[in-house]
Amino acid sequence: MPKNSTADRGAVRINRLHWERQAAGYERRVGRFLSGRKAMAWGLWRLPESTFQFLGPVRDRAVLEIGCGAARWLVGLQSLGARPVGLDLSRRRLEQARTEMHGGRRRFPLLEADAGRLPLRDASFDIVFCDWGALTFADPALTIPEAARVLRPGGRLVFATSSPWRVVAHDPRRDRITRTLQRDYFDLHRVDYTTEVNFVLPYGEWIRLFRAHGLSVDRLHEVRAPARATSPYLSKSERAWGRRWPLENIWQLTKLLAAGRPGRKPRTTRVRRGRPTTGRA
Ligand SMILES: C[S@@+](CC[C@H](N)C(=O)[O-])C[C@H]1O[C@@H](n2cnc3c(N)ncnc32)[C@H](O)[C@@H]1O
Repeated sequence: MPKNSTADRGAVRINRLHWERQAAGYERRVGRFLSGRKAMAWGLWRLPESTFQFLGPVRDRAVLEIGCGAARWLVGLQSLGARPVGLDLSRRRLEQARTEMHGGRRRFPLLEADAGRLPLRDASFDIVFCDWGALTFADPALTIPEAARVLRPGGRLVFATSSPWRVVAHDPRRDRITRTLQRDYFDLHRVDYTTEVNFVLPYGEWIRLFRAHGLSVDRLHEVRAPARATSPYLSKSERAWGRRWPLENIWQLTKLLAAGRPGRKPRTTRVRRGRPTTGRA
């Protein structure tokens, strides 16, 4: 990815349409898999946050999820004392989030916006995260600077997304993950599928982008498919693939205080700006 380049070119519009159309079907297909014990869990195999602790302590922390979908993560985090804000591009997905909130008798702001242009103040969150959310679907050349901007120094960015391995092994003609290389690694950035656009970078490019925006890498978890688990996102052969190569990665980053200085211990901050479009009682 050349420095400062973006490959957005209509991706936001394409993905908004995709998610508006597929909101109900997605919920039918995976809603239960993302609920209950698996609400506060990561990725294709729902790795529990209580075990992995990617987010760290959440009590009294201002937490933003970019691409929150039905916001099940945030309903759970609020019950642990966090002060959540959910943001998503799709109005229908935010309607689903309102249903989840009210079912759990919870109230927090939900914003309808593109994560590449956050309508939020600088340094207003302790934690920004997503679980195959906006950092999968929007250009990281736009979303990483925005996530870094709204994080206060010492704050944490965590996201689960596709691994570059999965993308280079994917055969677009057969829509299948293969055991051969199908795509150039060095050119990874925008990936167009039939009705949606994803983004993924080579590892070195991710790290260059993080560092350029004052984010240091604390942890990169390359997820290995569990031996016996199943996932509605994957076929049996894809699961077997995921036993041998990582299908997904979970990145945990800290916003530095200044060039090269790790942040202080998290302190709480208040969210004052933004456009709460739904969700307020
Ligand atoms: C696979 S879902 C993940 C959401 C949640 N973790 C879940 O599983 O329900 C991806 C979400 O990202 C949202 N999204 C895609 N592009 C976005 C963007 N540019 N800004 C904000 N949200 C976006 C979609 O509308 C969708 O709700």
